Amino acid sequence: MSEEQLRRLRDCVRPFPDFPVPGVLFRDISPLLKDPAAFRTLIDLLEDHLRVSHPKIDFIAGLDSRGFLIGPSLAQRLGVGFVVIRKKGKLPGPTESISYALEYGKAELEIQSDAVEAGQKVVIVDDLLATGGTMYAACELVKRLKAEVLECLVIIELKLLKGSEKLKSIPFYSLLQYD
Ligand code: PRP
Ligand code: ADE
Repeated sequence: MSEEQLRRLRDCVRPFPDFPVPGVLFRDISPLLKDPAAFRTLIDLLEDHLRVSHPKIDFIAGLDSRGFLIGPSLAQRLGVGFVVIRKKGKLPGPTESISYALEYGKAELEIQSDAVEAGQKVVIVDDLLATGGTMYAACELVKRLKAEVLECLVIIELKLLKGSEKLKSIPFYSLLQYD
């Protein structure tokens, strides 16, 4: 991974002050999705990282909704399946659910009870870690199904919010860090 590659990805993240509520500096990854070369570089770097760090992965789990933008591409590259962790009320059949606090609000996440099996190894992906509340809740859901969380992976980490501390001993990886 070169500094130049990271710089090009960073250039594709736009800051929007006071969105969706006053006081939040929203980091928008739309330009990264719009630029095929940048998106390829993003998936290349995440694939390289996971191949080195975790040679045996059973599933990539993506968080609703922006984790769905990178999870399936990454899972395809690695030759593993993709499972969804969704906001409340979207998944049919038996589910596990958990509520959590957001940087700007409160929400509830769900996973289908048969999404992963006991002992399977899962990497959870999302676009961004802020307070870490969403990612922590997702880890709890995967653990309730008795699967193992190998790592939580995001494109962007908002360092000042110290979300990675909430994840305690669960391995965490971010490609781009912002204050
Ligand atoms: C955003 C982001 C993460 C989460 C991070 O999603 O995509 O999932 O917030 O915040 P946290 O670390 O403080 O929990 P959001 O809930 O806004 O939903 P969206 O992806 O559907 O826009
Ligand atoms: N999700 C939570 N906080 C965010 C932020 N500052 N920018 C983009 N997505 C977010």
